[in-house]
Amino acid sequence: MKFFIDSAHLDEIQKAHALGLVDGVTTNPSLSAQAGLKDMAAFHDQIRKICELVQAPVSAEVVTTTAADMITEAKTLAKIHEQVVVKIPMTPDGLKATHALAREGVRVNVTLIFQPLQAMLAAKAGAAYVSPFIGRLDDISQTGMDLVEQIMAIFNNYGYETEVIVASIRHPLHVLQAALAGADIATIPYKVILQLINHPLTDIGLAKFLEDWKKAQKS
Ligand code: G3P
Repeated sequence: MKFFIDSAHLDEIQKAHALGLVDGVTTNPSLSAQAGLKDMAAFHDQIRKICELVQAPVSAEVVTTTAADMITEAKTLAKIHEQVVVKIPMTPDGLKATHALAREGVRVNVTLIFQPLQAMLAAKAGAAYVSPFIGRLDDISQTGMDLVEQIMAIFNNYGYETEVIVASIRHPLHVLQAALAGADIATIPYKVILQLINHPLTDIGLAKFLEDWKKAQKS
């Protein structure tokens, strides 16, 4: 499974990249706002910097809502860097834009997927990626991971090449479940990447090894 980092913070992306854990990056308008990007120029500049840092796919989301506007905006984003993947919301206009952009060779990540047929429609429209949001389904007492399993089954049944990015990941168990479901990619917040590394028994075990070694040196 590929690990993407779900962040627009350059320092977080840098730190995760140094750990060898960044196969790609996803951003969205909320994450860009959290990273302090106040206007379109700042956003484009940050996307360029992220692309240069990670040399991997970087999702940048449109903030327009009609198909015509999304297509124009997507083409501008795609010109920032060859690694840019344009993120388009799952709406009728979004689907229309995805279809048109895919035919022109622009890679699209269809986002805000909450039921399996939305993913199937995105794949049929030519999306390179789909992003099911599992944490937000858990938030309303639906098992988000069921959605991922259903999408994987449908894509395997028909051989769709669209890759599944498990998004809205909130904790390490989501990452484990994504891997067990055979998802192509998990896009993970930096905080959760750190949680994946740590285990109290690792810390206790290391302290004991070092203590035993020190004792042996003194004896
Ligand atoms: O990639 C989408 C993700 O950022 C949404 O996460 O936690 O806002 O539901 P969350």
